Amino acid sequence: MRTDTPHTIYRKDYASPSFFVDTVEMGFDLDPDATIVATRLTMRRNPASRGKTLVLYGESLRLVALRMNGKALSKRAYTLGHGTLEIANPPDEVVLEIETVTQPSQNTSLMGLYVSNGNFFTQCEAEGFRKITFFPDRPDVMATYKVMLRADKEKYPVLLGNGNLVEQGDLGDGRHYAVWEDPFRKPSYLFALVAGNLVCQEETFRLQDGRDALLQVWVEEGNLDKTQHAMESLKNSIRWDEERFGLELDLDRFMIVAVSDFNMGAMENKGLNIFNTKYVLANPRIATDVDFANIESVVGHEYFHNWTGNRVTCRDWFQLSLKEGLTVFRDQEFSADMIGTDSGRAVKRIEDVRVLRQAQFPEDAGPMAHPVRPDSYVEINNFYTVTIYEKGSEVVRMYQTLLGRDGFRKGMDLYFQRHDGQAVECDDFRRAMADASGRNLDQFELWYSQAGTPRVTVATRYDEMSNIYTMSFTQSCPPTPGQPKKLPFHIPVAVGLLDSSGRDIPLRLQKGGTEGSSEGVHANDPAPTTMVLELTQQTQTFDFVGVLEQPVPSLLRNFSAPVVLEYDYTDAELGFLMANDSDPFNRWEAGQRLALRRMLSLVREVKQGAALDASLLDTALTDAFRVTLTDTSLDPAFRELALTLPSESVVAEQMEVVDPQAIHAVRRFLRRSLAQALRAEWLAAYEANLTPGEYSPDAESAGKRGLKNLALSYLLDLDESDGHQLAQSQYDAANNMTDRLSALGALVNSSAPGREDALARFYDEFENEALVIDKWFSLQAVSYNTDVEAVRALMRHPAFSLKNPNRARSLIFSFCSGNPAQFHAPDGSGYAYWAELVITLNALNPQVAARLARVMDRWRKYEPALQRNMRNALEDVAAAKSLSKDVLEVITKSLA
Ligand code: ARG
Ligand code: ZN
Repeated sequence: MRTDTPHTIYRKDYASPSFFVDTVEMGFDLDPDATIVATRLTMRRNPASRGKTLVLYGESLRLVALRMNGKALSKRAYTLGHGTLEIANPPDEVVLEIETVTQPSQNTSLMGLYVSNGNFFTQCEAEGFRKITFFPDRPDVMATYKVMLRADKEKYPVLLGNGNLVEQGDLGDGRHYAVWEDPFRKPSYLFALVAGNLVCQEETFRLQDGRDALLQVWVEEGNLDKTQHAMESLKNSIRWDEERFGLELDLDRFMIVAVSDFNMGAMENKGLNIFNTKYVLANPRIATDVDFANIESVVGHEYFHNWTGNRVTCRDWFQLSLKEGLTVFRDQEFSADMIGTDSGRAVKRIEDVRVLRQAQFPEDAGPMAHPVRPDSYVEINNFYTVTIYEKGSEVVRMYQTLLGRDGFRKGMDLYFQRHDGQAVECDDFRRAMADASGRNLDQFELWYSQAGTPRVTVATRYDEMSNIYTMSFTQSCPPTPGQPKKLPFHIPVAVGLLDSSGRDIPLRLQKGGTEGSSEGVHANDPAPTTMVLELTQQTQTFDFVGVLEQPVPSLLRNFSAPVVLEYDYTDAELGFLMANDSDPFNRWEAGQRLALRRMLSLVREVKQGAALDASLLDTALTDAFRVTLTDTSLDPAFRELALTLPSESVVAEQMEVVDPQAIHAVRRFLRRSLAQALRAEWLAAYEANLTPGEYSPDAESAGKRGLKNLALSYLLDLDESDGHQLAQSQYDAANNMTDRLSALGALVNSSAPGREDALARFYDEFENEALVIDKWFSLQAVSYNTDVEAVRALMRHPAFSLKNPNRARSLIFSFCSGNPAQFHAPDGSGYAYWAELVITLNALNPQVAARLARVMDRWRKYEPALQRNMRNALEDVAAAKSLSKDVLEVITKSLA
């Protein structure tokens, strides 16, 4: 039995702070081995609080001095507990002076103040500020900050803080200083400082109201040739938020800083966003199309937080999705608008839904399932999840679907009108949406409180005599930890009907029908071709009138709600939708349903001992793929998505008992079959989508490259010398990383004679580009040919390091979650490797370790023999000494 069972924090226990902080003044004497932090807080009692004690949090700090209202506090006047400092019976107004020492060079957790490549950085969200000084480190305590940074002038020529630079100068002793003042009240999690030897690209940018803002992108020396895209993305983000939401930049200066050691993607610190280098640095030589797109969206995301997160922040960490779900929604809309075209928007939507299905649906069905607004947590860092972010974004998107774009905008306006400068709850956002639109959104609250992915089952009936087409919906939601029973959700389901020529049928609902009240329908047009039906009950029926022939239903258009929709389509109907649906999302969806159906039936055959050969295949899928592949009226980016088979993890989610080897074998078999049957078409698509000339990451060129490189990967699955040569010559001729990496990946997955040589050459060429070496590791980690021994060998490579999260993720995470067939080796060697690495990483960086721990979440879904090995590995980790609460929470919940 463990005795150190971690402490669970409950949402229902929320109590407002006993003291508020009005102003924070800080002085930093920056030194990697002993940084002295002097803090002065003016505080006042919160009359509404029942608590009398002044509570500050602090971790890994050495307390040097503590004064209250000018007098040193004796040891008896305060209590230092586990992570707290409490002062009993303080007066109503308190000026607290605290001096602490920290050791940034030894801080491998990358929370609080730490050193990366010799420079200082901070990460305070969620609870990192308490590793810098003692403080009521909770988001509902908001203050203004004035910060003086002092450091060696030569080693740390650049000193950055939040807000505006108000003073700087020399200290005479080889050191210098800078004073930064942030005019906006903020919670401590938005505090940041950066000090080091950095350079920047800068630009002044005219805001909509005529003010000029200084924009800077700071990087290590030698990287200035990689900042242009981030700068462009920042300017586009500022413009977009002005235009779409009427939200302006509120500072004279906005900085982005890139750091190579970072736990997550980026952080929205007020005026001083700190980014993982992966989401800043790009040029055609080192970054792929996907990298360029990710940078645009993460730069947007962090910038948009300035309003949704910083100006209006979270009352407590249970409300995390209030800012994250909303901000992901905003960055998704931004990226879609940047592409501009309808088909580009659809492509973006499909990509986002793919992430949701591949990562969030499994989370929602596993032991870590939690509502968008959780009721409890042990370690808040474990709740920066796809549920909070991606499902949270879907929840925000549903408001827009229900209220329309204008209605949604009115809700946003009201939200800012009411809550600017406040720390609020998810309920406040929902109330603003309801009040601005006059709609009742009470039931909508269940999207925040109930975990699990709802299932919507549809049945249809056509009555030739009355020309009535009936759709019946039944919704349910599987139990999740702590929530055995669920109430019906408020689900917007966008639908259309296709006639036999593939055209949309104008939709009219029966008046006074069962549930088809006009409230549930949005139509300015008297007969729209897409209607949003609102499900609010367990079962509901809608009658469409004037339907002159048996239609094919197009259901959940544009994925109008984060649910699993079940309908018994025939293969022929799926092929028909794939070719004809006016909703591009559902065209893609139809193809995925068809492919998934085939994959699942092949897996069943394999498990019954059938050999995978051509006799198992019919032509439905090949025919459908041929139509899409050769339809040049379709956007190449769309075709790439439509021609990509559902991933192994998506197939696994559909199965009661998962057999990773069978799934892998089936997917490869199907790919080879499609390569064989459509060989000429793939080659033609390859030739037709070359992008000669100078590289540009725009969506159209990227789409062409995407389709061309998909064609290449299919052709390489044939593992013949023609394909090898094609990949080899693409590799040699490439003028950009997208083409180079695709060619290398295809080679590495094959038995091409040149594969080892290409890998070696690639390494030599990019040895000094850390982000590219990450790609080199991860490409090998996910290769068909890489087993656990090969991964262990790669770990011994001199360029490998466990301390750098990007590097650790590029090899270990890529293998454990991106190479299921090898990771789930029947002898359990993959699981043993996993356990070893979780334990090793735990001592270095609990957050990174806990993410890796999540890989085993769905262990109960696997075949009994695998399950036993997985349980053993989980128990090995559980038995390890001094586990962080991050890892402990994940492991405990997985085993529960
Ligand atoms: N708020 C950041 C974002 O934009 C995420 C920071 C999370 N960091 C952490 N250590 N939990 O999404
Ligand atoms: Zn965020």
